[in-house]
Amino acid sequence: MKSQDIRKAYLQFFESKGHLIVPSAPIVLKDDPTLMFNNSGMAQFKEYFLGNGTPKSKRIADTQKCLRVSGKHNDLEDVGFDTYHHTMFEMLGNWSFGDYFKKEALDWAWEFLTEVLKLDKDRLYVSVFEGNPAENVAFDQEAWDIWKQYVPEDRIILGNKKDNFWEMGDQGPCGPCSEIHIDLRTDAERAAVSGRSLVNADHPQVVEIWNNVFMEFNRKADGSLERLPAQHVDTGMGFERLCMAMQNVTSNYDTDVFTPLIAKIEQITGLKYTSNEVKNISEEQNKTNIAIRVIVDHVRAVAFAIADGQLPSNTGAGYVIRRILRRAIRYGFTFLNTKEPFINKLVEVLANQMGEFFPEIKSQQQLVTNVIREEEASFLRTLDQGLQLLENVVAQTKGTEVSGAKAFELYDTFGFPRDLTALILKEKGMSFNESEFDASMQEQKNRSRAASEVSTEDWSVLIPGNVETFVGYDQTENEVKITRIRKVNSKKDGILYQIVLDNTPFYPEGGGQVGDKGTLVSANETIDIIDTKKENNLILHFAKQLPENINGAFVAKVNTDLRTSTSKNHSATHLMHLALRNILGTHVEQKGSLVNPNYLRFDFSHFAKVSDEELRQVEASVNAQIEAQLQLTEYRNIPIQEALAKGAMALFGEKYGDNVRMIEFGDSKELCGGIHVKNTAEIWHFKIVSEGAVAAGIRRIEAITGDAVKDFFTQQENALATIKETLKNPQDTIKAVVSLQDENSKLKKQIELLLKEKIEGLKNDLVSQFQEINGVNFLAKQVDLSMSSTKELAQALGTSKGNSFVVLASIEDNAPNIHCYIAKELVADKSLNANVVIKDLGKYIDGNGGGQPFFASGKGKNINGIKEALEKAIDFVK
Ligand code: ALA
Repeated sequence: MKSQDIRKAYLQFFESKGHLIVPSAPIVLKDDPTLMFNNSGMAQFKEYFLGNGTPKSKRIADTQKCLRVSGKHNDLEDVGFDTYHHTMFEMLGNWSFGDYFKKEALDWAWEFLTEVLKLDKDRLYVSVFEGNPAENVAFDQEAWDIWKQYVPEDRIILGNKKDNFWEMGDQGPCGPCSEIHIDLRTDAERAAVSGRSLVNADHPQVVEIWNNVFMEFNRKADGSLERLPAQHVDTGMGFERLCMAMQNVTSNYDTDVFTPLIAKIEQITGLKYTSNEVKNISEEQNKTNIAIRVIVDHVRAVAFAIADGQLPSNTGAGYVIRRILRRAIRYGFTFLNTKEPFINKLVEVLANQMGEFFPEIKSQQQLVTNVIREEEASFLRTLDQGLQLLENVVAQTKGTEVSGAKAFELYDTFGFPRDLTALILKEKGMSFNESEFDASMQEQKNRSRAASEVSTEDWSVLIPGNVETFVGYDQTENEVKITRIRKVNSKKDGILYQIVLDNTPFYPEGGGQVGDKGTLVSANETIDIIDTKKENNLILHFAKQLPENINGAFVAKVNTDLRTSTSKNHSATHLMHLALRNILGTHVEQKGSLVNPNYLRFDFSHFAKVSDEELRQVEASVNAQIEAQLQLTEYRNIPIQEALAKGAMALFGEKYGDNVRMIEFGDSKELCGGIHVKNTAEIWHFKIVSEGAVAAGIRRIEAITGDAVKDFFTQQENALATIKETLKNPQDTIKAVVSLQDENSKLKKQIELLLKEKIEGLKNDLVSQFQEINGVNFLAKQVDLSMSSTKELAQALGTSKGNSFVVLASIEDNAPNIHCYIAKELVADKSLNANVVIKDLGKYIDGNGGGQPFFASGKGKNINGIKEALEKAIDFVK
C-alpha cells in the first residue's frame, strides 16, 4: 500500500466506527503557553479532557502533524542516526471523549492492524501498565484481559511508568497506556532472539507503532495526580513507522514518505543513498546516509512550520525552526559538500507528495521555498565567516589545543556548530578543550534559565464547571464573578495572578490584537487588570494583586480609550490588507500582525520592496475607504463555508471552527475575532510610517491612525517650523536647504584636499624618523589628526618601507586612539601580530580594540596614557 492509501484506510476505518474525521491542527500552537509545537494528536483536544470545553463529537479521528523538538518530548539529536525517529511526523489518532474506553479502543486497534491492514499477528507485541503503588495507580488488569483474547501471554509485556504511563508535559491530562510493537526482523533473526526481549530496547526493527492512552488523571503543579471527571481514550499511531511495516522495509526512510525526497538529493549532489537492506557499508557511505536522513527529515519539519505561519527567527518557536534548518544545512555542508543553497529545492517534491492531503504546503510552496533559500544562503555565509574566524583562533593558539571558551564564542555568537569546529580542528591535528566548552555552555544556560524561570500553581476553583462567556463585542463593562484564580511567579514579572471570570468584556490577546487593560471594581476596591490573554479555552485576566473578597461581586471595566485606539488600528489593518491585494496583487497574504493602541504592524508575502508610489497608492486607497464611511457588518457566527463563499480571507496556520466570525467593511471581508470600529469614518486618517523587509519574501508595514496621525502631523509641523527658524526664516525653505547642502559638499571637498596635503606633509616628515632595530623599521609617534586620518597615515607610512612596524596615536573628541601597522613579512616570519600589540598597548589608554594581524586599531579613555603606550611599543621589536 502506498502511504496515501494507508492514511486513508485508517481514517475510513474509524469513520465506519462512528468517528468524526477532522483536519490536522496547525503544527505551531497558539493559546497554549505550556507547549510550543503540537507534539501529539491530543494536544488540540487537551481542554476536552480537562472539562474546559465540549468537543463537536464524542468520537474523533485525524492525522496530526507533530513536531518533537522541544520540551518533554524531544527527539532532535537522534534524528538521522537511526531509522525511525523524526522531528516532524504524522500521528494517526482516534479519540473518545467520555465515550468508549479500553475495550473498544483495543478491539479496534487489533481489528485495524490485523484484519484491515493484515499485518502478521505473530510479529505484534502489546504492553500493559504494571501499576505504580507510589502513585496509587493499579496494574491494568482490564487491558491485560482484553489482550489475552487476541495475543498469547508471552507476547503481552508489563511496562513501568516510563514506558506505559503517558503524559503530555509536566502538568495536564495523563494516564496508563497500552502500546503495540512490531517485530520486522527476518524469520531467522526472530528464531534466534525472541522479539519480546527487544521491545522498548531501542532496536531499530522492533518498534512501537501505536499507543493507546487511557486518560483518567490530571497531573497537578505539585506533581500529584487527581482523577479526571470522565474517562477518555487518546491514541497515537506513528504513520511513517506503520508505512515501514506495510511496505516491507526496515527503515522509515525506505518508505515512499521519504524516497522521493532522497532521490532529489541524489540528483542534486550526485551522491547515492543506500537503503537499510544494504549491509556492510563504508564509513564514508554511512556519513552520507546520515546526512541525507537528517535533511529529508528536517525539510519536512521546517516546510510545514513555515506553511503554518512560523517563520525562522531569533526567538521562541522561530528559533527552534531556524536551528532545525541549520542542522540540516550543516550536515549538507560537511558531509554532502553542498556549499550552495539546495534544501529549498526539496519543497517542490514535498508539495507534490503531500499537497493533496495537506493543501497548505501546496499553496504556500513559493513562500516556503524562498524563505528556506534565504536562510540557507545566510547560514552558509555564517559558516564561511566562522571558518575564517576559526583560522584566526588557530593562528593565535600555541600548541594543539584551542580554548573551549573561544570555541563556544564561535558557536554562541556566530552560530558556528560545535561539531564542525571539532572536525576542522581534527583535520589540523588539533582539538578544543571540551570541558571548558561545556562549562561556558552551562553558564549561559544558567543565565537564561534564571531569567525565564516561572512557577505556576494549580487553579483554585471558586465556581466549578463554569466556562466563561466573552461579551466584549457588545459591552465594555459588565457584572462578573471570579470563578478561578492561579498564582504565577516569574523571575521577569514577579508575582502575578491570573483571574478567570464567569463572563468578561475583556478581549484576550489574539489575531494580532493586544489584550484589553482595565479594572475590576467592587463596592470598596479597584484592582488593575494589566493584560488579558487566552489559554486554550480560558480567558486569563492578569493582576498584580487579588481583591480582598474574591467571592464578591465586581464590575469588569475595559479601558475604553485604549480599546478605541486599538480598534481603529485593527479595522485599518483590514482596509490595508485589501488595498495591498488590490495594488500589489493577490499573492499578498498576511504573515503576521500586531495591533495595539499606538500603531499597527502588518507582515505580508511580497517579493520586492514596495515602492514609494505603491505606498502612496495604498495610503490613498485606505483613506478613500475611510472617507467612504463604510459601515461595519459583523457576521458573528456563520458557517465557515458560507463566509468563504462570500469571499472572506482566511489565514494559514489559524485553526477555525465550523462557525466563524466575519468582519466586513465594503469589499474588505476577513475571518476575525478582533474588535473593530462601527464605521470606518471613526479611523479619521491612515498614515504609513515605515516599510521594510522581515525575511525573504516577507515585507512589513507600520502605520498609524486617528490621534496618532494628528500627533504625527503636529510633530512634522513643529519640525518644519524649527528648521525654518534655524535657517533664519528664508522665503523658500527647500531652496535654502539645497543651497546649504551644496555649500557643505564644496567645503567637504576643500577639507579633504587640505587633509591630504597635511597627511602627505606629515608622512614626509615622519618617513625620515624610522629607527632600525633588529632589522625592523620602527616608528611610534603621536600626531595631530582625526582618527580616520591617523589610520590612513599609519598605513601610508607602513607601506612606504619594508619590514615596517608603525604605531601612531592621536586624540579625537577628547579620547585617545591608537593604530598599529606591521609589514606582512614580519607577521609571517617573526609572528608579530598587530592585534596583540593593540590589545597590549590599549591597557595604557584604558581602551581596547582589534583587527587583523597586520593592522589593528584601538580606542581608549585615558589621554595621559598615550605617551607610555608609545614608549612601550618598542618592546615588541626589541
Ligand atoms: N498521546 C499519545 C502519544 O503521543 C497517544 O503517544
